[in-house]
Amino acid sequence: MAEHSFTARAATPADALAIATIYNHGISDRTGTFETEPRSAQQIEAWFDGRHPIVVVEEGREVVAFASTSAYRSRPCYAGVAEFSVYVARNHRGSGAGHVAMTALLGAAQAAGFWKLLSRIFPENTASRALMSKVGFREVGLYRRHGKLDGAWRDCVIVERLLGEAAE
Ligand SMILES: CC(C)(COP(=O)(O)OP(=O)(O)OC[C@H]1O[C@@H](n2cnc3c(N)ncnc32)[C@H](O)[C@@H]1OP(=O)(O)O)[C@@H](O)C(=O)NCCC(=O)NCCS
Repeated sequence: MAEHSFTARAATPADALAIATIYNHGISDRTGTFETEPRSAQQIEAWFDGRHPIVVVEEGREVVAFASTSAYRSRPCYAGVAEFSVYVARNHRGSGAGHVAMTALLGAAQAAGFWKLLSRIFPENTASRALMSKVGFREVGLYRRHGKLDGAWRDCVIVERLLGEAAE
């Protein structure tokens, strides 16, 4: 197996194009999201709201993965809960970049004061379920027929991970 040297850092709006490219591959693969419309770099720039951490993983100077948090609900009682996503460039999947991205995102989210990350994963997405289990997520249950992708009903596995004091 090839050796990889991945480093994670906080993303900036200057990474928006690289993030959009990786996300758009993920959208067209149809394995990780209900989204079907590609995103522009400008749309990704709007993710940087000053509150929700986003990280990128580089190999050399190439961005090969990102992981992001976003708002869960606007109610103050859920202020410490965030949604998350993680996407690895097609030609770098299965080599540890997703693990590096999620580890960095968990650290950044905890440092930003979040007490929980959550998301939903298609049951067939074995790579994502394996990665989440590896970095400490719990599978909460299954949403049945949570949405349609290309006209077909899809279930979703709900995952959550507690952070900081909530995890003690
Ligand atoms: C899901 C995804 C983020 C995982 O990232 P990755 O870099 O490919 O995963 P890693 O190489 O870090 O592997 C993490 C763990 O998952 C396991 N894994 C990775 N790919 C796997 C696969 N296809 N089948 C089973 N297990 C897999 C690895 O074995 C590893 O466990 P290990 O440390 O015990 O070996 C990546 O494959 C991806 O971008 N997929 C498309 C988009 C997507 O589905 N995003 C998630 C939306 S919920």
